Amino acid sequence: DNEEGIVYTVKAQKGQTEIFNGIETNTYGYNGSFLGPMLHFEKGDKVKIRTINELDEETTFHWHGLEVSGEADGGPHDALQPGEEKVIEFEVTQEASTLWFHPHPHGKTAEQVYNGLAGLIYIEDDNSKSLGLPNDYGKNDIPLIFQDRIFDDKHELNYNAAMNDDGTVGETLLINGTLNPKLTVNQEKVRLRLLNGSNARNYTFKLNTGDSFVQIATDGGFLNAPVTLNEVTLTPSERAEIIIDFSQFNAENDLALINEDGYVLLPFEISDQNGVNSEIPGELNDFTLTEEEKNLPVTKKVELFGMMDMVEINGKKFDPERIDFTQQQGVTEVWEIYNKPDMMGGMIHPFHVHGAQFKIISRDGEAPPQNERGWKDSFSIKPDETVKIAIQFKHKGVYMFHCHILEHEDNGMMGQVKVE
Ligand code: C2O
Ligand code: CU
Ligand code: CU
Repeated sequence: DNEEGIVYTVKAQKGQTEIFNGIETNTYGYNGSFLGPMLHFEKGDKVKIRTINELDEETTFHWHGLEVSGEADGGPHDALQPGEEKVIEFEVTQEASTLWFHPHPHGKTAEQVYNGLAGLIYIEDDNSKSLGLPNDYGKNDIPLIFQDRIFDDKHELNYNAAMNDDGTVGETLLINGTLNPKLTVNQEKVRLRLLNGSNARNYTFKLNTGDSFVQIATDGGFLNAPVTLNEVTLTPSERAEIIIDFSQFNAENDLALINEDGYVLLPFEISDQNGVNSEIPGELNDFTLTEEEKNLPVTKKVELFGMMDMVEINGKKFDPERIDFTQQQGVTEVWEIYNKPDMMGGMIHPFHVHGAQFKIISRDGEAPPQNERGWKDSFSIKPDETVKIAIQFKHKGVYMFHCHILEHEDNGMMGQVKVE
């Protein structure tokens, strides 16, 4: 019973982490030296989180994908100075999903995430508990946070040396903060909750054997039905839950998750155990995009443009004092996002809006792919592409919308919508 509310304490801390054998690397973490705890909510929970800044610099606590008031959202307006703390409270009103949290201080988001500040949030609800999906945490239900890094010759994360204005991309992959991990699985269906937690790198995930898998969830909830795929691409901050059926493989198989270049991201070691091997239901959710939503007029236009530190939205850089848009609480509007090419052709930007889960109506006028027909809070947009979304905010406050290449965001590729 939740009368008192779920109480969590989340501290942003400095620490040292043994990423390389026998070597300590200076890192940041939540309630520890690197990454963070998993926060577990149920729909309907009243949650209270005591956030504490134990760093030597300001930070904020942002709940990416969570539908909370602007006051609880932890955008750049909400900076906690070193030693400060703040209690935030909210009710969990959204459906089962895998969200995450990370800092958002003005101009310093990229560096703080790079140093290790990121954690996961799981929301469960009656539907997710009744579906019979793999849910044995760490056994057949596994979170995987993908982050690339550059370590200097002292094995330190030297952000200012590594930093690239177009997004810091490293040659060293960490999964859940671990170098060269290997995942041991039973011969059963295994659910992987993938988060692209990188500052700038995109990943296309596939199996080295070319076998298919199913995607069951997007950023903000289950798809209506499992979607069979040979690969899934995630740009920074996007999530996908996929299920791989390992019952069709055995210990002799050299199976791995690879990226678009064939680079091994995560090798699997298949045990000789059978495991539970649950059936995946054909119906997972009742997500709908109504005709009415599809036919709403476009009321907000967002034009993404630029590269390096010359990035902007609608011709402007972020100004904390400027409100770019206003929208009424509880009213669905259609936003049209356009990625304007530059002389070099332009680049993919991952576009994200705080405080809401939204629906993708179309990409260049066409219905989005099957695996984007679910709640989203971030999506990729190619040069010269136009994406229409239907978005409604459940709460009031000032929310950021921005490119989730964190260096672009820090360089001003961000705007603010005030919900009143
Ligand atoms: Cu992942 Cu502004 O957020
Ligand atoms: Cu966010
Ligand atoms: Cu960008």
